[in-house]
Amino acid sequence: GTTRYYTFNVTIQNVTRLCTTRAIPTVNGKFPGPKIVTREGDRVVVKVVNNVKDNVTIHWHGVRQLRTGWSDGPAYVTQCPIQTGQSFVYNFTITGQRGTLFWHAHVSWMRATLYGPIVILPKRGVPYPFPVKPYKEVPIIFGEWFNADPEAIIAQSLQTGAGPNVSDAFTINGLPGPLYNCSSKDTFKLKVLPGKWYLLRLINAALNDELFFSIANHTLTVVDADAAYVKPFHTDIVLITPGQTTNVLLRAEPDAGCPAATHLMLARPYGTGQPGTFDNTTVAAVLEYAAAGHIKSLPLFRPWLPALNDTAFAANYSARLRSLATPEYPASVPRGVDRSFFFAVGLGTNPCPANQTCQGPTNRTMFTASMNNVSFTMPTTALLQAHYDNIAGVYTADFPVAPLEPFNYTGTAPNNTNVSSGTKVVALEYNTSVEVVLQGTSILGAESHPLHLHGFDFFVVGQGFGNYDSSKDPANFNLVDPVQRNTVGVPSGGWVAIRFFADNPGVWFMHCHLEVHTSWGLKMAWVVNDGPLPEQKLMPPPSDLPKC
Ligand code: C2O
Repeated sequence: GTTRYYTFNVTIQNVTRLCTTRAIPTVNGKFPGPKIVTREGDRVVVKVVNNVKDNVTIHWHGVRQLRTGWSDGPAYVTQCPIQTGQSFVYNFTITGQRGTLFWHAHVSWMRATLYGPIVILPKRGVPYPFPVKPYKEVPIIFGEWFNADPEAIIAQSLQTGAGPNVSDAFTINGLPGPLYNCSSKDTFKLKVLPGKWYLLRLINAALNDELFFSIANHTLTVVDADAAYVKPFHTDIVLITPGQTTNVLLRAEPDAGCPAATHLMLARPYGTGQPGTFDNTTVAAVLEYAAAGHIKSLPLFRPWLPALNDTAFAANYSARLRSLATPEYPASVPRGVDRSFFFAVGLGTNPCPANQTCQGPTNRTMFTASMNNVSFTMPTTALLQAHYDNIAGVYTADFPVAPLEPFNYTGTAPNNTNVSSGTKVVALEYNTSVEVVLQGTSILGAESHPLHLHGFDFFVVGQGFGNYDSSKDPANFNLVDPVQRNTVGVPSGGWVAIRFFADNPGVWFMHCHLEVHTSWGLKMAWVVNDGPLPEQKLMPPPSDLPKC
């Protein structure tokens, strides 16, 4: 492969959306940030220079980072953040992945504005496994725009224990589109030629919302998820959680009766319960067939989207995703399991500290979020450094393999107040085959949690509603062609089972990709020890690794 060099200057830029101008952190003054284009097998070298007053790190979301954990990016997990005026060179190789991923800041809520696409083309000369050759490839990156400072929003939530204010708009390629006030000029337009095929690289970089996406009068063919090929299937609507990516093929076929008509592409949240706590507005972009002038002068076709709480649609959609599983692209699913875990995943409450006023979900409480009753506390030394240098006292390897006590995870379960805090990890020997059942607890409304694992792709071998039953459910696991991905929606009131080989030495974060839940503690880490062979060991840290 070749080596691709980039420089990311993190700078403040004035950006106006919804008639509100904010000075936001950007990469090279762009919002969304620049696109990285690479091929499978290439090396990517990005020098990140911090020219803003806040700490910065960049995470290459979904990149496996085989043995290069120092370049993974989550602050205080694999590195100390890059301080003002400092820089750090991220250096990694794309191994066994093709499709779309994305990069984003990984400290506090900075990824609200610091994100951009990673396009991974197949190796030179290797065709796509689907029979059409796209005429054009277009990233479609979903985000959220806040009129207020996102850092102030999360700081206030952590202070008062209440849910944070929702964003003011969803965006497509940084633009809210014509359904928002003061926004018709800020509309992403995709000009297409009739009869041509397009590959849309969908990325959900939104902070806190899963999204439905659809294009009026056009069927989409899903071909890739999280940079792994899937068995192609047709759908009018895609569901995409924060942290997920999906490649879809689109054939440009204009309306027979009105070939210049404008077709809207829309996205809006999938959010299950708690009406009123979600931003349920809709972002629109435009599919345009001709030099059509002002969009209001032509008929406007609008797609149908499922209701905010359409869990049945979500479950059916997720079940359709299958690995391609061909000889060229095999699904190497762990068949046996060396270590199995049951993680109860969800929200709960903590009592309000005596000297504080709290506005949490019930009187004098604060929201918290946990896995197996542990709300993760960020350390002040990077976990990977502590692991590599054997620094004691940074973390403990006693993350529980199961929740404190079993209970009924459906319906109105008792409030989960039995939450403790700690920096707890699970230690794994190299190449352990791991199974994790992630059980949504349905406490405080029923929201699904897009769980993201760093450093690995996992296979989603099973999913279901209600309580996971270890005596029955494993019999139905798909070990043949389960979807391979890095982020999975743990259904509200249900569970998913994932498997992976711990073949990547280092420290790997796992967390809900709804940023507010991460902030409340829905996160943990895996420590994977070196294997015996030289090529099974974590590489030494780069000399410019930031210090805390
Ligand atoms: Cu895209 Cu740890 O996250």
